[in-house]
Amino acid sequence: MAVSAAAKLDVQALRADFPILGRPMHGKPLAYLDSSNSSHKPCQVLDAEREFYETSYANVHRAVYELGERATAGYEGAREKVKTFVNAESTREVVFTRGATEALNLVAYAWGLENLGPGDLVVVTELEHHSNFVPWQYIANRTGAAFAAIPADENGELALDALDELAGQGQVKVVAVGYVNNSLGTVNPLERITAWAREQGAITVVDACQAAPHRRLDVQALGVDFLAFTGHKMCAPTGIGVLWGRAEHFERMQPFQLGGEMIRTVSIERTTWNEIPHKFEAGTPPFAQAVGLGSAIDYLDGIGLEVIEAHEHELVEYALGRMSEIPGIRIFGPPAERRGGIVSFDVEGVHPHDVAQILGWEGVAVRAGHHCTQPLMRALGVPATTRASFYLYTLPEEIDRLVEGLHKVRKTFA
Ligand code: ALA
Repeated sequence: MAVSAAAKLDVQALRADFPILGRPMHGKPLAYLDSSNSSHKPCQVLDAEREFYETSYANVHRAVYELGERATAGYEGAREKVKTFVNAESTREVVFTRGATEALNLVAYAWGLENLGPGDLVVVTELEHHSNFVPWQYIANRTGAAFAAIPADENGELALDALDELAGQGQVKVVAVGYVNNSLGTVNPLERITAWAREQGAITVVDACQAAPHRRLDVQALGVDFLAFTGHKMCAPTGIGVLWGRAEHFERMQPFQLGGEMIRTVSIERTTWNEIPHKFEAGTPPFAQAVGLGSAIDYLDGIGLEVIEAHEHELVEYALGRMSEIPGIRIFGPPAERRGGIVSFDVEGVHPHDVAQILGWEGVAVRAGHHCTQPLMRALGVPATTRASFYLYTLPEEIDRLVEGLHKVRKTFA
């Protein structure tokens, strides 16, 4: 054992909660280093899902019988848990969506279509995942607003000295920014960016997909306007996401999707909207998945987000140290103190897909590609990278396996 994090977080013990980690891959023990893509689920979450379906399942907000009431209580109970998890003022500010992409599209359409026009400027960043980039580019084009990106420097960090020049390009109305970048792990200086956005009279829309599973969130302290994250990267099921937004914005916004449950009254002449957050939850919502998310929040809170963050920080320091010993490896991204549990790299002369395939044969699961951040890849001058990403169940020995695998990759392509 090369790092001491396990003394604080009993990783070996908690791995027993994740049966899939005990399954081999290509006949080798699985070293799952792809949690930024999607995390595995502990038994506690799987059991909560099963129990909900077995004991409390009926459609929510529609059934007056006892089972329906239990289902609604489960769904609304999950909303309470999310409220506490992000330190929101009220559950009225917590909208359940089918994922972070839907949450970010909701803001871009419902806020953007009403509030943007010629002369306005939408600012994203070169580090953005496509889901907080493409919807804004599209809505800017549709409304006639200008669109610009805060550039990334050679470390994969935001070049904030470009902000003044950006402010000259139009009336900044939106700043769309990730908290932790998914390709390189860069932790963005959110408080500084939010302060600048506020000076410009702009709202801040934060993609927190790579933050929510790994560090404590406090929307009030961050001072942002909207914040989105997904469940499947934080031990919860797929198909559930969260959009937190300030109630004053949600009150003023028009709906995004239209249909059942998001209405108050419907007639041929006119339809009126339900109150927030239900105004933004058209149709049968992903309520069983929300219950799973509530259970994942309990699981992560039981361990402690601070403990998880510290564990991943030690892992990333260890990985950066070990990987820098390997000749011909270029590591992208900032130093460990400004990065989450993600290491993206290039093996000289070997395509990232070949790297990931050989590692896969060794039982080491990593992601290769542009990671849905093509503008960032362009800024770094590469088409793709190979990426290892860590979570609460990651062991330093799995990083050793990655390093051994990379030596094998180099030998194979020598
Ligand atoms: N699933 C995407 C990733 O791997 C967001 O980073």
